Amino acid sequence: MDSSFHHIPVLFNETIDSLNIKSDGVYVDCTSGGGGHSTAIAKRLTTGRLISIDRDPQAIATLKERLSAFECVTVVHDNFFNIKNILASLGIEGVDGVLADLGVSSHQLDEPSRGFSFHHDAPLDMRMSIEGMSAADVVNGLPQRELQKIIFDYGEEKFAPSISKAIVKAREQKPIETTFELSDIIKSAMPAAARRDGHPARKTFQAIRIYVNGELDGLGEAVGDMFECLNKGGRVSVITFHSLEDRIVKQQLAPLAKGCTCPKNFPVCVCGNKPQAKVFKAVSPSAEEIAENARCRSSRLRTAEKL
Ligand SMILES: C[S@@+](CC[C@H](N)C(=O)[O-])C[C@H]1O[C@@H](n2cnc3c(N)ncnc32)[C@H](O)[C@@H]1O
Ligand SMILES: [Zn+2]
Repeated sequence: MDSSFHHIPVLFNETIDSLNIKSDGVYVDCTSGGGGHSTAIAKRLTTGRLISIDRDPQAIATLKERLSAFECVTVVHDNFFNIKNILASLGIEGVDGVLADLGVSSHQLDEPSRGFSFHHDAPLDMRMSIEGMSAADVVNGLPQRELQKIIFDYGEEKFAPSISKAIVKAREQKPIETTFELSDIIKSAMPAAARRDGHPARKTFQAIRIYVNGELDGLGEAVGDMFECLNKGGRVSVITFHSLEDRIVKQQLAPLAKGCTCPKNFPVCVCGNKPQAKVFKAVSPSAEEIAENARCRSSRLRTAEKL
C-alpha cells in the first residue's frame, strides 16, 4: 500500500452518519481521493455496492489497491459531473446515497510535483486529472482582463487588477514556469500590509486552481444530477471547502425543500408543487477539529434526503 497517499478527511463521522447507510444499499463516492470515506462506507455494506469515482489517475491507482479487499466496490476513473452516464454504463438505475467531498486532496496539495502549492517549488501544474490546460498555460496564455476576472471571481482577491498586470508584465520577460515564480510575482504586486494577512498567494492560487479544473462551472447542475440519481429516501451529502462552492450547493439544494412556488397573495395553490427533499441544516467542523486541521475551518457539510 502506498502510505504517501494520505488525506485528512474533514467532518468524517458527521458525513458517514449523514448518509444513513443501509448494508444492502447502493452508494456513490464522487471524490474518493485517498479512500477514507469509501473505506468507511464499504465496511458498512454486506450485499450493497459502492461506486468510488475520482478524476485523478494517481488517486485511482491508490484506490484500486486500498479498496481491493472490498468486493462491493467498483473504482471508476471519471469526472463526477458525468455521474448519470457513469451509473447508466454500470446498469444502475437508482442509488441510496451520494457523497461529494469537494476540492483538492491533501495528497494533491502536498505532493510537490503536482504544482498546486505555494509551499513547494515545482512546475506550475494544478491539474487534478493530469490532462488539459495547466496552470502555467493559464497564466502565460490568457489576456490580462481574463486573468483579473478569474482571480477576482474565484479567489475573491481584491488585488486582482494589480496581480494580473504583474503576471502579464513578468511573462513578457520570460514564461512563468514554477509555483515560486508565480508566488513571487503575486507578492510583488501586493501592498506590504496585505502581505502580512495570511499567505499573499493563497487566494490567487485558489482561483487559478478552480479555473484549471473547472471546479465551479457546472457544479450546481452536477449536484442536481446527484439528487436525481437517488432512490426515494436516498441522501446526497456534499462537503464544500469555501464559500463560493458552498453557495452553489446551497442554492441547488434549498429549493428542493420548497413546495408551492405560487405568489404569496394567491388564496389557494395553483402550482401543485410538492417538496422533493428534506434539506438538513449545514454542519460545520467543531473547534477541536479546526484546532487539529486548520485547512478544514471553512468547510461545510450539506445533506438532502429525497422524499
Ligand atoms: C477532498 S479530496 C477527497 C478525499 C476523500 N473523501 C478521502 O476520504 O480521501 C477530493 C478528491 O476529489 C477529486 N475530484 C475533485 N473534483 C472532481 C471531479 N469533478 N470529478 C471526480 N473527482 C474529483 C480530486 O481529484 C480529489 O482526489
Ligand atoms: Zn402553489
